[in-house]
Amino acid sequence: MPPSPPPQTYRVKNFGCQMNVYDGERMSELLADQGMNAAADGEDADLVVLNTCHIREKAVDKVYSDIGRILKDWGREDGSVPLIAVAGCVAQAEGDEIMARAPSVRMVVGPQAYHRLPAMLAEAALGKRVTDTDMPAETKFDALPRRRKVGASAFLTVQEGCDKFCTYCVVPYTRGAEVSRPFASLIDEAKRLVDMGAIEITLLGQNVNAWTGDDDKGRAQGLDGLIRALAELADLSRIRYMTSHPSDMSDGLIAAHGEVTKLMPFLHLPVQSGSDRVLAAMNRNHKVAGYLRLMERVRAVRPDIALSGDFIVGFPGETEAEFAETLQLVESLGYAQAFSFKYSPRPGTPAASMDGQIAPEVMDERLQRLQAALQRSSLAFNQTTVGRTCEVLVERHGRKPGQWLGKSPWLQSVYFEGEAALGDLVTAELLEAGPNSLRGGLLANAAS
Ligand code: 5AD
Ligand code: SF4
Repeated sequence: MPPSPPPQTYRVKNFGCQMNVYDGERMSELLADQGMNAAADGEDADLVVLNTCHIREKAVDKVYSDIGRILKDWGREDGSVPLIAVAGCVAQAEGDEIMARAPSVRMVVGPQAYHRLPAMLAEAALGKRVTDTDMPAETKFDALPRRRKVGASAFLTVQEGCDKFCTYCVVPYTRGAEVSRPFASLIDEAKRLVDMGAIEITLLGQNVNAWTGDDDKGRAQGLDGLIRALAELADLSRIRYMTSHPSDMSDGLIAAHGEVTKLMPFLHLPVQSGSDRVLAAMNRNHKVAGYLRLMERVRAVRPDIALSGDFIVGFPGETEAEFAETLQLVESLGYAQAFSFKYSPRPGTPAASMDGQIAPEVMDERLQRLQAALQRSSLAFNQTTVGRTCEVLVERHGRKPGQWLGKSPWLQSVYFEGEAALGDLVTAELLEAGPNSLRGGLLANAAS
């Protein structure tokens, strides 16, 4: 390819999980650090980074169709097109294939290598096509610039990667082995986030509760130790974490839910299935009874806890009776909310070549039944909170003029009217519940 002038503007397009959103923000900061500007809404950019997700279906097709759309819509009069970079988990898993099939892609960068984007950009400017899907031993976090801008609710990646190898999942291949960021750099980053105005921090990791590290006195700590240390930051009001694995739900972390008031009463603990046979075939390493016991222990120390989970329907070989066990689990536990997905065979994972792949119409039907049960469960949970007074962190404008939308401690969406601004932590009474949100009445706003 001919050399091209260095890009002046960029856009990062994120797909997938919150970890990707975090990575996307960090890439944006890295590009801004190179002197580039974010392209304004609706305007084309000199550099487009597609920060892809590979966890479920059609991820690769989506990347190709996005590239097609960019080439069609963003072509310039002189015939030049934006520099296209494919980042994220699809880049990691299918980078070579993308380079071969899409000549317009100039850079492929994996989730553990994106701190090297500036060097890659320099090569791309010389007309080269570059791929970096290494998983370097040194952590990318040390190489990234400091955070510049955060909202009232900020993400902080504390752990990455996964050693669990559930048989359906690509994450251990795309994100690599479990790695914890060091305690001291996390405390430093959290302090900076708080100094910049964050009052809520969500600790992120593919297996966030597997985080380990040595504290400032050299003592080995788990996630609960990190949470307790963060709770000492005076101007930080709320701490959350996600996503967790049942095997890493330590006694200390369960106890923290009862003792650390800044740790919000919310636990996202995926179970995937309510059938022990399916869990074994998924290599989940836990049984239904063990999962229920964990949830009950958390409830014992924090009775109002909002429980959340992930479910997969139509895993290979899942029978109607096994699916009914999943429904049963949902009915008996009472989830505040949960995510549910149709099983999607991921290339290279053991489950993709298992016998008994389930027909799409069966999966559709099971998903509908599960989602109906989860909606009922969410509504029931939300109804139990009606009448409570709680703090709501204002995140967005509501649909109607003068209306605000924020999050309760239980991660419910609460809309209300009155004097408030984005980022305020207001006091509201929960007045009326639906399955996906609640109406609140503003009682007080310390900020106004
Ligand atoms: N098919 C469907 N859902 C999946 N998940 C992970 N891999 C797959 C797959 N192959 C879901 C799991 C996981 C969540 C992040 O995505 O429920 O917890
Ligand atoms: Fe995937 Fe299982 Fe690891 Fe979660 S624990 S990231 S589902 S392999």
